[in-house]
Amino acid sequence: MKTVIFFGAARANGITRRMVNTFRSKAPGTVVLIDAYRDYRNISPCHDCRYCWNHPNCIIHDKMDKVYDALKDADVVIIASPVYFFGVSGVLKTVFDRLQVYWASRMRKDQPFPEPKKGAMLLCGGAPSHPGQFDSAKMTGFGVLRELRAELVDTVTLSSTDCLTEDRWKICEAEILKLVEKLYGTEE
Ligand SMILES: Cc1cc2nc3c(=O)[nH]c(=O)nc-3n(C[C@H](O)[C@H](O)[C@H](O)COP(=O)(O)O)c2cc1C
Repeated sequence: MKTVIFFGAARANGITRRMVNTFRSKAPGTVVLIDAYRDYRNISPCHDCRYCWNHPNCIIHDKMDKVYDALKDADVVIIASPVYFFGVSGVLKTVFDRLQVYWASRMRKDQPFPEPKKGAMLLCGGAPSHPGQFDSAKMTGFGVLRELRAELVDTVTLSSTDCLTEDRWKICEAEILKLVEKLYGTEE
């Protein structure tokens, strides 16, 4: 069992990290953390050169090669990000745009279809809960998981993180543990 977690928070040890740590504490098997702001910083944006429209890979070779490798045999993909102006963080979005090769591969139909995976999202926002708070991030995550052929199992969201109480954190923690159960069943 292999899980890839895309981690998109600028703060290394903020609330998003807390959500990820809770998830990791129960996730079975190997977990690969793609920390977009640190280890995977400086990944080039997609140039929309359209090389991947006719080739089975990206023309740019940088740390993104490691991300493609990590995804090859992943069983579960998790997107963990704070919302910045309603969407996933910009640095994480840069990584996601490089997954356009998966979209192109589906269009070309000349590569084996990626193995089916499961997916989920862990999203947090500083503001109190309000309509649409996570919509943009959810849509981006939905698009990414679809191209990776990952079935979206569930999304855990946490609002008011800029003044988080222990009571509300406990509720979120329980939701994350329930998500682990849904994703991995009894394997943990
Ligand atoms: C650039 C920026 C934009 C933000 N935009 C939003 C937003 O649109 N909605 C929201 O609820 N919180 C917003 N926030 C607050 C963060 O989502 C919140 O502080 C979150 O806890 C940060 O994640 P972290 O605790 O893992 O660092 C924004 C924060 C920053 C830095």
